[in-house]
Amino acid sequence: MTTIYESSHPLVAHKLTRLRDKTTKPKKFRELIREISALLAYEATTDLETAPMSVETPMGEAAGVELKQPIGLVPILRSGLGMVEGIWGLMPTAEVWHIGLYRDEQTLQPVQYYNKLPLEPTVSVCLVLDPMLATGGSAVATVDILKEWGVQRIKFVGILAAPEGVKAMQEAHPDVPLHLAVIDEKLNEIGYIVPGLGDAGDRQFGTG
Ligand code: URA
Repeated sequence: MTTIYESSHPLVAHKLTRLRDKTTKPKKFRELIREISALLAYEATTDLETAPMSVETPMGEAAGVELKQPIGLVPILRSGLGMVEGIWGLMPTAEVWHIGLYRDEQTLQPVQYYNKLPLEPTVSVCLVLDPMLATGGSAVATVDILKEWGVQRIKFVGILAAPEGVKAMQEAHPDVPLHLAVIDEKLNEIGYIVPGLGDAGDRQFGTG
């Protein structure tokens, strides 16, 4: 059974509204993607394991903790790229592994074009990053790749989702929790989320 977290945080809702606005320019759009991603990642990492450690303060010793498991951030190229910076700032020791998938415009199926994962997994928790969970094809394929690689825990962090994408992930990977800002109404006939925000890649990179 998939755990679905749809953020109810006012900061996320406020920034999401500005993100959707078609008059928002690429610079601001990237800033909003970065900020929303960090807020979602904060919520998505509440159950990370920690190990005890202590540090010396100017006043003496203080008991503390450090993150126990190596974390991987896995942006799905290209629109997942904009989500990395904000999350990486929160966990700078994370490794970033890129997966390149494009959506065949005819079949709407994902086609892999970039994957440089080493043979053995180097991380035990992965956050898969894609702002748009549309048909779910790319997210499902990426989680397939990470499971094949041997990653023990995988979470999906996205900004907007369509019910169709949520269903695809629920069916293919019910063990992967979905951390989302919002689930929108539907997909249109060419696979775009409605009302959505348009093409997240084009709007970040000023293309299209
Ligand atoms: N990818 C996008 O960038 N936008 C959508 O609405 C769906 C997929």
